[in-house]
Amino acid sequence: MTTLFSADDTRQIERLIRISKERPLLPDTFVPWDIPEQETHILLPEKLVSLAGLPIYETLSIAQKRLLARREVTQALYAYCWSEGLFCLFMTRYILHRMPNDLERRFLLHEIAEECRHQEMFATTIQKLGCQPVPVTKFQQLAADLTVRLFPPDFAFMSCLAVEMMADRYGDHLRHEAGAFPVLQKVSQLHNIEEARHILFTKALLKRYTERAGFWRSTWYSIVVLVNMRFFQSTYVRTEIYRDLGLKNPARVRRQAFRHYQSRFAHECLDSIRELIEGFNGFNFLTRPLWRWVMKMEV
Ligand SMILES: [Fe+2]
Ligand SMILES: [Fe+2]
Repeated sequence: MTTLFSADDTRQIERLIRISKERPLLPDTFVPWDIPEQETHILLPEKLVSLAGLPIYETLSIAQKRLLARREVTQALYAYCWSEGLFCLFMTRYILHRMPNDLERRFLLHEIAEECRHQEMFATTIQKLGCQPVPVTKFQQLAADLTVRLFPPDFAFMSCLAVEMMADRYGDHLRHEAGAFPVLQKVSQLHNIEEARHILFTKALLKRYTERAGFWRSTWYSIVVLVNMRFFQSTYVRTEIYRDLGLKNPARVRRQAFRHYQSRFAHECLDSIRELIEGFNGFNFLTRPLWRWVMKMEV
């Protein structure tokens, strides 16, 4: 496919490529890896902790609350690490047969390099937090694999964009939380800065699809975004974590926590997602009930 960007978008993408080349952010030097974690450091803002706000949270000891925050921030880092590996697979295939001077290829090569650095950065952070993440399920692995292999480019880019926008809001909370562990703050800051470029590019690329999307295509895009959001929530909130905390009936706690987490997550992390969907008229009489029911989002 030849380039389909407007003159303005082409100029903007050239600028983004220049920034990636001239001002790369290297995790090795950008993140203060040597700063030790202290008891007073916040590992995850309470508004993003699954149980916070439920009566059971008040019954936890300080050590249990800290472990819960540690485990859940580890899950988020692991989920990004995993999904970025999948995006890299998709992007590599997407650019494989393009000419070296193709604009999309030139930008996406930088994005792949940045996503590889992010994966390494998240993995180092997880090691620093000293936690073993709960792996994604076999079903999630299979679904993700099929998505990357079989989805048409517009659906795959829409998935990338949705996850990047959600991760961006999540990282924003972590980055701006006063008293947060400085390693986590700088990791989030680096990610925010580089993902902002990826988001601009992907939005420009998707215009060719969304600007002429009719009712059914907008409906599908909306569903693709919804499934991705739901998918990520289920990697954050895991029964195994409640079991390791020593809570009774962890499966029941998970069910209760998940519902509660969803409505808070919709409030804290989905504002930009809402704008994205409104941008391509993705809320309609079919999708609105789905967003309300599946994501507990007021639409
Ligand atoms: Fe990333
Ligand atoms: Fe990205």
